[in-house]
Amino acid sequence: MVGQIQRVGVVGGGLMGSGIAEVSIRAGLDVVLSEIDESAAEAARARIRKSMDRAVGSGKLAEEDRDAALGRLRITNELAEQADRQLVVEAVAENPDIKTGVFAELDRVVTDRDAVLASNTSSIPIAKLAGATERPGSVIGVHFFNPVPVLKLVELVPALVTSEETVRVASAFATEQLGKQPIRAQDRAGFVVNALLVPYLLSAVRMYEGGFAAAEDIDNGMVLGCAHPMGPLTLADMVGLDTIVAIADSMHAEYGDPGYAAPPLLRRMVDAGLNGKKSGRGFYDY
Ligand code: 3HC
Repeated sequence: MVGQIQRVGVVGGGLMGSGIAEVSIRAGLDVVLSEIDESAAEAARARIRKSMDRAVGSGKLAEEDRDAALGRLRITNELAEQADRQLVVEAVAENPDIKTGVFAELDRVVTDRDAVLASNTSSIPIAKLAGATERPGSVIGVHFFNPVPVLKLVELVPALVTSEETVRVASAFATEQLGKQPIRAQDRAGFVVNALLVPYLLSAVRMYEGGFAAAEDIDNGMVLGCAHPMGPLTLADMVGLDTIVAIADSMHAEYGDPGYAAPPLLRRMVDAGLNGKKSGRGFYDY
């Protein structure tokens, strides 16, 4: 049985992985963050630093606490450095082949057989990731929301084969240690939030694609008319258009509902490398 988690691993230092690493080091945990190469590792370090500087700037975090937190973070391009972790969160690209490859590798390198192997996937079956390991009972979905330091929710998603102990440890990690609020969801593509959110974002893209209204007017409609913090096209740009296509594809494959099919414009934008805010251009320029 795993006691309180002290040693956390994060695999993938993109938007989500950086945020998960940040909230973990700010919670006093020791974190090893794996990236694929030096430049990705540097980008992850800069992202975490920038986000924490923002918290310092707004008076939410003392400078010495930022420095202490950064002292608990090690960024590496060797996945093998996850060996001594008690809980690892995988947050690589939303691609089943890449994710199952990471789980197979984590299964080989993480020595503690009771360690929890979590995935931040938003739409890939947890059972599929569990099946890539020889310890399927230890695998669970722990899905965070962007920006991770701001949004309280995590979706806890046990697969059919996940052990109760894994659920207990992952839940305590997310709630007691990181201060998040969990909801439980079944292991179905999109879980709760993306199953509701993504069809809405896709509808906004279809509306724009069909020339119903300008991007700003679609967004202002939902901000000013429904008090959403940001409009759907701005939110799509923030989440990443490539990520939205990947989630839509998983949900469309699972449910066959045309409401989940990615509109052609969205696919063309991703083909062209217009992935939203992170790439400098999506529905808006950044
Ligand atoms: N990282 C860290 N902190 C951030 C941040 C970021 N990227 N963006 C904003 N913040 C913090 C700011 O520092 C500020 O904190 P403070 O109150 O301590 O100063 C606070 O959030 C508010 O920020 P701002 O005043 O700059 O801006 P807004 O009030 O416009 O809020 C927002 C920005 C928090 C991003 C807000 O617009 C929002 O919540 N938008 C909706 C986000 C959303 O729906 N996310 C879910 C996406 S779906 C998902 O993640 C699932 C995946 O599977 C697709």
